[in-house]
Amino acid sequence: MNKKKDDISDIKSYYDELSDIGRFNRQQLEHVITTKLLSIYLNDRKDILELGSGSGVYTTSLARAGHKMTAVELSSSLTKIAKEEAQKENLQDKIDFKCLDVRDFFKSHDKTYDAILDMGPLYHLTEKEDRIGLMLKKKKVLKEDGLMISCFLTRIGLVSYMMNKSPSWIDNIEDVISILEKGVNKEHPRNGSFRGHFSHLDDIFELHEKAGLEILNIHSQDPGIGGRDEIFNEMNNEQKDKWSNLLIQISTDSMAWGSGRSLMVISKKAKAP
Ligand SMILES: C[S@@+](CC[C@H](N)C(=O)[O-])C[C@H]1O[C@@H](n2cnc3c(N)ncnc32)[C@H](O)[C@@H]1O
Repeated sequence: MNKKKDDISDIKSYYDELSDIGRFNRQQLEHVITTKLLSIYLNDRKDILELGSGSGVYTTSLARAGHKMTAVELSSSLTKIAKEEAQKENLQDKIDFKCLDVRDFFKSHDKTYDAILDMGPLYHLTEKEDRIGLMLKKKKVLKEDGLMISCFLTRIGLVSYMMNKSPSWIDNIEDVISILEKGVNKEHPRNGSFRGHFSHLDDIFELHEKAGLEILNIHSQDPGIGGRDEIFNEMNNEQKDKWSNLLIQISTDSMAWGSGRSLMVISKKAKAP
């Protein structure tokens, strides 16, 4: 018998209430590094599947750069914003918007892609089988020489973020212990507050191995920032450029992986032994 799908309506509510809008301004280093990494890795990849496309900030910039986008997003409010932004720039013909849960997207889907970008759905799936299931489905629609880009939230990065932004988290010791031990708190109230999975490197390696994907690179998307985004936000543009260029260079250093909140993992289909 099929197991009942985990209910993620609280995650949809969180994003429908536009709780994520303004993140690019609040977390500028992550945005600058992510934009630079996407342009490096996606440069010659024509057909791109983007999962968890949100308000379409990366979708429109990639469409503007000439990529053909398929953008899948759970939140109807965010999809509406993304469509309006695309229309303003006359990019609607380059983006196929789908407003649905990624777990339903792959049913009888036979198109394949040059690259798949997952910046959200994977770390919002708190059941391990769901994460493995999603990686396998993504791999199925990836071309043989295609590139997979999957983002993860880090367990250690969360600690420095909470210490800076929400020091009273330490008083909720069950939550702290559960997340540090398992990456999730199964008791987390499904009340529309942020709920996700915080990864350890072992999870990331296991997930890719089980899906038959070979990891090419792991980048911290915000090395060294912890929760202190203001340090970068308040720099002038010249300093921002110099610092982001330096940080991008050290973003693949394993010492940097736990110093940020999120990781971008680049992989491809593993060759059969
Ligand atoms: C942190 S936001 C990131 C949005 C965008 N990728 C970006 O980087 O700005 C995560 C996004 O993933 C979407 N998401 C989460 N779970 C999803 C699912 N199962 N199916 C489709 N989208 C999902 C959320 O609605 C949200 O827009």
